[in-house]
Amino acid sequence: MLFAVHEVGGGYGAIHIVKNVSFELGAGETLAVLGRNGMGKTTLLRTLVGLADRFTGEIKVDGKPLPARSPRALAQLGITYVPDDRGVFPRLTVAENIELARLSAYRQNDRDVYALFPDLKLRADQPAGTLSGGQQQQLAIARALATEPRLLIIDELSQGLQPSIVQALADALSNVTGNGGLALILVDQNPHLAMRICERVMVMQRGEVVAAGASATLGADEGFLDLLIV
Ligand SMILES: Nc1ncnc2c1ncn2[C@@H]1O[C@H](COP(=O)(O)OP(=O)(O)OP(=O)(O)O)[C@@H](O)[C@H]1O
Ligand SMILES: [Mg+2]
Repeated sequence: MLFAVHEVGGGYGAIHIVKNVSFELGAGETLAVLGRNGMGKTTLLRTLVGLADRFTGEIKVDGKPLPARSPRALAQLGITYVPDDRGVFPRLTVAENIELARLSAYRQNDRDVYALFPDLKLRADQPAGTLSGGQQQQLAIARALATEPRLLIIDELSQGLQPSIVQALADALSNVTGNGGLALILVDQNPHLAMRICERVMVMQRGEVVAAGASATLGADEGFLDLLIV
């Protein structure tokens, strides 16, 4: 199994936020993590990638236990995290941002990220800080894909972006997941978008998973959608 999460709890210092989360992801598999504001989605992702404290449980990559608080180990295992603030280098150009990501690639590759995001090609020499929010998000995803990861973990893909950009991002991700081989964990405020991109979904409430299953099944369940109403 690529990524196996067993009864993981996490948070910050003495503050326990995420409790008892378990799931598994194989190559190409996709999981949406949904839930209202403040329910622990970001903290779960940060616990998984070693940027928050893990208090309980175990994470295994390829069957081998992952030490807690080890973001560097994750990169070396082919797991790339895109935080909710995108994390591009504003003073570097688009091309430099992508080249830097390639330098830390999990495996050498010639993936043409500009083919996925033609908008970025036109702006290759522009400092990333001068891009629109949607273009910066495209760049963040392009940087992540340039590392040729096995598992991509994205916090808030579509927040604040216009529908055409969201569609381009969704198409790009759909191309590389599934048979494309890339596994994905996606947090998004838009359940319909997240369930269109991801075959499976889980919902968090107060740090715990309260519903999980196939997107096709749960997406048609009114009680399920009620869990997400603010
Ligand atoms: N660094 C931190 N230290 C202490 N508590 C935190 C910290 N970050 C978040 N929290 C608390 O943890 C809880 C879950 O927050 P988290 O950001 O994980 O939720 P979320 O589901 O990602 O919310 P949103 O939809 O707003 O992004 C909240 O009560 C929040 O106040
Ligand atoms: Mg969040």
